[in-house]
Amino acid sequence: MQSQHLHTKFILHRNLTESEMEQIVLLKKQHWDYTVEDQLRWIESNIQPQDIHLLIYGESRLMAYLNLVHRTVLNAVEKHVLGVGNVCVDKAFRRTGLGAVLMWSANWYLKTHHTVGMLLCKAPLCRFYESVAWEKFEQKACDKQGNVLNENIHLYVYNGAFSTIKLLGDVF
Ligand SMILES: CC(C)(COP(=O)(O)OP(=O)(O)OC[C@H]1O[C@@H](n2cnc3c(N)ncnc32)[C@H](O)[C@@H]1OP(=O)(O)O)[C@@H](O)C(=O)NCCC(=O)NCCS
Repeated sequence: MQSQHLHTKFILHRNLTESEMEQIVLLKKQHWDYTVEDQLRWIESNIQPQDIHLLIYGESRLMAYLNLVHRTVLNAVEKHVLGVGNVCVDKAFRRTGLGAVLMWSANWYLKTHHTVGMLLCKAPLCRFYESVAWEKFEQKACDKQGNVLNENIHLYVYNGAFSTIKLLGDVF
């Protein structure tokens, strides 16, 4: 295999270029079968200017991606967290450890910004997130309407601990 230099980039949504947006949409499209227009519409309505994209390039090709969105959760008091979403790796590079590199990069960001991370995932991916030091929130969490958030999906936390969780913003 040819040697690959990885280049990691954190960028605020408001600073994202059109070409970066295009590469994100094409990578996401490998995994979530929506049209380019639908993908762009989703990003426009769900990602705010101050939210963060994490991009990992090999040479000039986008190989792995996730985003971090600002949210508030209510424990005893309100707390700012970053919700991790759209975690994906180019199909050609899956099971090579790149997903772990991506998640450890996000973990580094959360640690250095003294911020708690949260994510939701389906059962088959629990092993993946546990392999990169995320901890399952075993109690029932609820959304802003009071409905159980983690009934059919698992909630993971990194860099913090909560006794109860009520997510005040939209699910990410
Ligand atoms: C999930 C995903 C990002 C993982 O990336 P990856 O580069 O394949 O993962 P890694 O090679 O770093 O895997 C590290 C470890 O996590 C676990 N793991 C990774 N993917 C897994 C899967 N699909 N099922 C179970 N365990 C998995 C394994 O223990 C793996 O180590 P191993 O290969 O030595 O057994 C990638 O498979 C992907 O893009 N999936 C499609 C999009 C998606 O479903 N995203 C999740 C949204 S919540």
